[in-house]
Amino acid sequence: MSLYAIGDLHLHFGSQLKAKMQLSDPAWVGHEERFMDNCRRLLEEDDVLVLVGDHSWGRDLEECEKDFDYIRSLPGRKILTRGNHDMFWDAKKTAKLNERFKGELTFLQDGYEDYKGTALIASKGFCFEGPFYLDRKGNVVGYDEKDKAHADKLVKREEERLIANFEQAKADGYERFILFLHYPPTNVLEKDSAFTRLASRYNVSQVIYAHCHGKRRFHDSIEGKYRGREYSLVSGDYLDWIPKKIM
Ligand SMILES: [Fe+2]
Ligand SMILES: [Fe+2]
Repeated sequence: MSLYAIGDLHLHFGSQLKAKMQLSDPAWVGHEERFMDNCRRLLEEDDVLVLVGDHSWGRDLEECEKDFDYIRSLPGRKILTRGNHDMFWDAKKTAKLNERFKGELTFLQDGYEDYKGTALIASKGFCFEGPFYLDRKGNVVGYDEKDKAHADKLVKREEERLIANFEQAKADGYERFILFLHYPPTNVLEKDSAFTRLASRYNVSQVIYAHCHGKRRFHDSIEGKYRGREYSLVSGDYLDWIPKKIM
């Protein structure tokens, strides 16, 4: 039994493709088949696969139906976390999603899931991605204050959501945690954030995140060992559609 993670499948079996990257970047050519093949080669039925957000371009459940069929047909137990493009997922109605897909898929945002005595904690997260103002040499000299203030609010909301999840798991006796975010824990300017501080506060062993696409964005945030925790980017195009074994 192993735990795997990958993010950003951006499926569009039943909806319109909405990103140029998927048309122009060779990393995305046939990615659905390649990912399916890799999963069938690597995963056993008792493995757990965490899909870290941006599952589908569908605007609602109906448009996502074929994408969910695809996800259902992947081997192992599937846990889905929320990404910024998951329009089908109303943050306040996660329980309803879990009811609808009971026994097939798990939608994780509230509470936690157990993996061999480790609590898997997840939320979309957030980080301020600009716009940043650059000088002629390309150094960041400022940013849009209004956008930043809005971003701070979103970070706060996600932070509160995660604290509630950690506390629930702790109350149930968990001491080991893995944190899944969709957004990277920090932006290109930050060394720390609400999320890195939470990772330290709850002694998280690993922070897993996705969202970053294309060679220019892959190294926007923390990777590898940082302040005693392992940080991993698992967006599908970064992993060349090979799910990453994290435990
Ligand atoms: Fe994405
Ligand atoms: Fe994303």
